[in-house]
Amino acid sequence: MKSFLFLTIWIIAGLVGFAQPVSIIPQPVSVKQTGGKFIINAKTVIVAKDAEEEKAADFFTTYLQSVYGFTLGKSNSAQHNYIRLNTRKFIQKPSSDAYTLMVTSSGVTITGDTYPGTFYGIQSLIQLLPVAKSNALTIPAVTIADAPRFNYRGMMLDVGRHFFPLPVVKKYIDYIALHKMNYFHWHLTDDQGWRIEIKKYPLLTQVGSTRNNTIIGHFPGTGNDNTPHGGFYTQDEIREVVKYAADRFITVVPEIEMPGHAEAALTSYNWLGCPGTGPYKVEGTWGVFDNVFCAGKDSTFQFLQDVIDEVLQLFPSPYIHVGGDECPKTNWKKCPLCQARIKAEGLKDEHGLQSYFVQRMEKYINGKGRKIIGWDEILEGGLAPNATVMSWRGEEGGIDAAKQNHDVIMTPGGWVYFDHAQVEKDDSLTIGGFLPLGKVYGYEPIPKELNAEQAKHVLGGQANLWTEYITNLPKIEYMIFPRMSALSEVLWSPKNQRNWKLFLPRLQQQYKRYDLWKSNFSKAIIAEVKVAPKKVISKKK
Ligand code: ACM
Ligand code: ZN
Repeated sequence: MKSFLFLTIWIIAGLVGFAQPVSIIPQPVSVKQTGGKFIINAKTVIVAKDAEEEKAADFFTTYLQSVYGFTLGKSNSAQHNYIRLNTRKFIQKPSSDAYTLMVTSSGVTITGDTYPGTFYGIQSLIQLLPVAKSNALTIPAVTIADAPRFNYRGMMLDVGRHFFPLPVVKKYIDYIALHKMNYFHWHLTDDQGWRIEIKKYPLLTQVGSTRNNTIIGHFPGTGNDNTPHGGFYTQDEIREVVKYAADRFITVVPEIEMPGHAEAALTSYNWLGCPGTGPYKVEGTWGVFDNVFCAGKDSTFQFLQDVIDEVLQLFPSPYIHVGGDECPKTNWKKCPLCQARIKAEGLKDEHGLQSYFVQRMEKYINGKGRKIIGWDEILEGGLAPNATVMSWRGEEGGIDAAKQNHDVIMTPGGWVYFDHAQVEKDDSLTIGGFLPLGKVYGYEPIPKELNAEQAKHVLGGQANLWTEYITNLPKIEYMIFPRMSALSEVLWSPKNQRNWKLFLPRLQQQYKRYDLWKSNFSKAIIAEVKVAPKKVISKKK
């Protein structure tokens, strides 16, 4: 009923030329409509005073051009018909990336505490724009005061299982920006493909980036397609993506998987595996594979350090993700070199060897001034001293790590794995699982098991998009929308502002934005709303 009322108001407002009601996702901390309106047209100028503000201005003008078909002039000052960016410079670190957005009849002023704050103000301005195409965009007079709840608001894209060309990666980054999120976790290596050019080891991409075939249908498949699938990013392309993200105040976190999910690397350089294992191949099916990096050879570590050296040159991120998940110990148990390492280092068992592996790489990466992130398996056998844990097998790993005073990013499969189905009876080929929108919306990243001090270690959360069953942009969009909009509110808005019933009418407006962007999205929520939200939000797996 409420959403019907909302739609009616919106339609009437559109017909008589009023600004539409304010409908922003993620919900800002405070929104006050002050009466009146402002009209953005081709005569409006955008005032940016330095290169960082230019990034926000450019994002806005590019958006206007691509969605509405006109653009704005730039100016150093303007008294009327302006959009003024006015970042404050005196805020001490660590700052909150807060902003205020003020719309009056003469113009728009966005005051970020920081440059990212100003950029987030632009994102809210974008959501004040009408969802119908026009060259005179009426927006309501409003004062918004806003700041993010969490500092890490991420989206992961797996380009190992399927390769996606640069324009798709950039589009994904644009979506991250439009949702006021700030980390792009780029899963670059896996058993099914090595996707990043490493100059010192050219076979990684000459051999490791292409598989001969892929299974057809759901695992184990009904056969294979006998069609090679491959692709990789050159270092120039990687730099282009990193800059594209930085222009949107997004940090790209590269993931180089170790010690497991390494078969594409082993296929490229067989000596990286335990002696007597193989033959290796770039896998054309899904799952967890026994062929992992040999932990007994120093040459393995030398190789990985060389790879990391090039990765560090390409990615300014404070974090390097080293994977660490799903590493079978089958080969290590049989390998004389791995067993000798266990003995020489006084390790308890193969779990201790995994811990040794990650800690050795952490020491190297810390020595270069960066920190590691690992999936929660890095807790087994002892955490590397400075590691940040991504809790994916539920929340337990995150709880454990936070209690050990380690930083944590929450990515639990039951709530934020966007490769899972959105309707109980799958409407497209997915890996399985059932993750309806309401469950994402109801996710609380701070587990109740943590006290206030421990909770400070929860930096935020991230959705993961594994791509075994995702091969193109429309399917990516279908899987992330509208769940990404729900997650953005989980990670940005104050906990007490989160309200499922008020989210749903705003989502109706968001659907129109997806249409405006020509983006695909799932309409599963229309069926889901018939289910009591309490039941949907339940934390049971
Ligand atoms: C994972 O989903 N294997 C991190
Ligand atoms: Zn070995």
